[in-house]
Amino acid sequence: MTVVVKFGGDLVGNREVLDKLAKDIAEVSSSERVVVVHGGGDIVTAIAEKLGKPQVFIVSPDGFRSRYTDRETAEIYMMVMAGKINKEVVLSLLRAGVRAVGISGIDGAILRAERKKRLVIIDERGRKRAIEGGYTGRIVEVDSSVLSTLLDEGLIPVVAPVALGDENEVLNVDGDRAAAHVASSLRADSLVLLTDVEGVKMNDELVPKMDLRKAKAMLKKVGAGMITKLYAAIEALEGGVGRVVIASGFKEKPVTSALMGEGTVITVEG
Ligand SMILES: Nc1ncnc2c1ncn2[C@@H]1O[C@H](COP(=O)(O)OP(=O)(O)OP(=O)(O)O)[C@@H](O)[C@H]1O
Ligand SMILES: [Mg+2]
Repeated sequence: MTVVVKFGGDLVGNREVLDKLAKDIAEVSSSERVVVVHGGGDIVTAIAEKLGKPQVFIVSPDGFRSRYTDRETAEIYMMVMAGKINKEVVLSLLRAGVRAVGISGIDGAILRAERKKRLVIIDERGRKRAIEGGYTGRIVEVDSSVLSTLLDEGLIPVVAPVALGDENEVLNVDGDRAAAHVASSLRADSLVLLTDVEGVKMNDELVPKMDLRKAKAMLKKVGAGMITKLYAAIEALEGGVGRVVIASGFKEKPVTSALMGEGTVITVEG
């Protein structure tokens, strides 16, 4: 079985939590092919601010929240995602006895993205406005051959969410969406999106499972952070992934628990 596991900033930033997660990945990887994708936007924001580059966030009319990525921000994003965060994850996996290899979406041209020319945003006064796209991209192609080669050698790839644009420039891509594309291209059996909540919630209650139709309907009912995950789940299922589990990364064995169905399990048929 192939399993793609994505986790974000709150998990990476906490060594104890990260080490537990790494131990679990070590266990799971003894019987499954595992690819790790990480996020970590909050860490990028904190470091950018220390560098004197306050970050700007924009919200699309559909409720997607994203970092406005000008050239300087793209550089900082690459430095932190493909550098610090990626290597912290690799170190943690190595401590757990996993032969992890940190790699970014631009290495070996794994992730190709189309640069967004214009972005439609909702401005401070609640009005729709188009702005210049900056260095963010929509993933259009995944070449998973590098990942398969690593897996065949018994190595675990740890992928940072940066992609290559048309002119071979670096683009910021969302971690959840990157994980969905990687999972689709590997025809993964499971995509596990670990985060800081138990799963998708409705009126404060966990939704244990949903089908594709419900996931699409739920897009309008969840807030920023979860919209991206649901959207990624939909993309993954439509791309041929067996199931998507959105679950907490703070458990004793987060990946094992998610694979056993704890959290929100999303499948085409439900
Ligand atoms: N209906 C919902 N159910 C569950 N969580 C929700 C919902 N609506 C919004 N959220 C928010 O989504 C957040 C998770 O997304 P967030 O982007 O913050 O983390 P992440 O994706 O794990 O990390 P990163 O963005 O660093 O990769 C939760 O902490 C929660 O506040
Ligand atoms: Mg997120």
